[in-house]
Amino acid sequence: MTLPFPPAPYPLARPRRLRSSPWVRRLVAETTLTPADLIWPLIVHDGTEDRIPVPSMPGVDRLSPKAAAEAAKEALALGIPMIALFPHVDASIKDAIGTGATDPDGLIPDCIKAVKDACPDIGVMTDVALDCYTDHGHDGVLEGNRIANDASLERLAEQAFIQAHAGADVVAPSDMMDGRVQAIREALEANGFHDTLILSYAAKYASAFYGPYRDAVGSAKQLTGDKKTYQMDYANADEALKEVAMDIAEGADMVMVKPGMPYLDIVRAVSETFRVPTFAYQVSGEYAMMQASVARGWLDEDRAILETLHGFKRAGCAGVLSYFAPKAARLLGA
Ligand code: PBG
Repeated sequence: MTLPFPPAPYPLARPRRLRSSPWVRRLVAETTLTPADLIWPLIVHDGTEDRIPVPSMPGVDRLSPKAAAEAAKEALALGIPMIALFPHVDASIKDAIGTGATDPDGLIPDCIKAVKDACPDIGVMTDVALDCYTDHGHDGVLEGNRIANDASLERLAEQAFIQAHAGADVVAPSDMMDGRVQAIREALEANGFHDTLILSYAAKYASAFYGPYRDAVGSAKQLTGDKKTYQMDYANADEALKEVAMDIAEGADMVMVKPGMPYLDIVRAVSETFRVPTFAYQVSGEYAMMQASVARGWLDEDRAILETLHGFKRAGCAGVLSYFAPKAARLLGA
């Protein structure tokens, strides 16, 4: 095709003008990332050592309650509003129904108290699911070879109650049973915990990217089969909107999409559709994948951290759970 006029000797529109110096880039940035956007997941354990490195997650340690309290102080100093606790308990206390999950003197209640004593001003979020406490590694109760939905709800509601009672600010069901948010909300209301927040893992996909976490919490060896009868199929997007709608109707205050980076389309759809605080979890496998490249010198760690975390904000996240949280907060000048 020939143009009816000769091309101008210069472009009239030059988007590069808005990129030409740091100050103008800052001035026109559409989104921002600050330490207040971060939630720091901590793996805690009931062993005697204060810290044990997790081999599949370089830079992440399993922490004693005392070390978790120190991490919480560090988070507060860095401007990170909330930590999230995930338990590694000794295999000897695991059983079919995850009895340890509802022990009022168990690891998580201990950690909540240690953190709140040391650091009353930090938000504490806890994971509601049985997998860290069951000898089969599933998030619910197993009947035959099926995860029994309704029998699991009672256990999960009791677990959330125990956590709230110990001082958790935010309970976060990650189990994907039907009706869990309602069961948990009813248990909280009936026991006077009217202000305990629920952040539901509303759109949680059955994912290969949880592998390193299952090592970290010691549930990998236990797990029989997979979690595909309760966690979502990664082929589906509309179904995520249905899950989120149900969780909000059942009393969730905030929702989460998980994993993170491969699911930013879901984050965008959820945040645009519901306009409720929407979070994403940059999970263990995403962390491990990046750390493995960094270790080989293939990826610039600092730049990759900020770029990936910023991507979550651009997609519509109110905040991000990331094992990089303290490092990112420091990079952001905290
Ligand atoms: C358990 C739970 C999982 C994660 C958080 N809570 C794993 C799973 O569903 O198997 C994964 C976190 C991560 O990979 O960083 N309900």
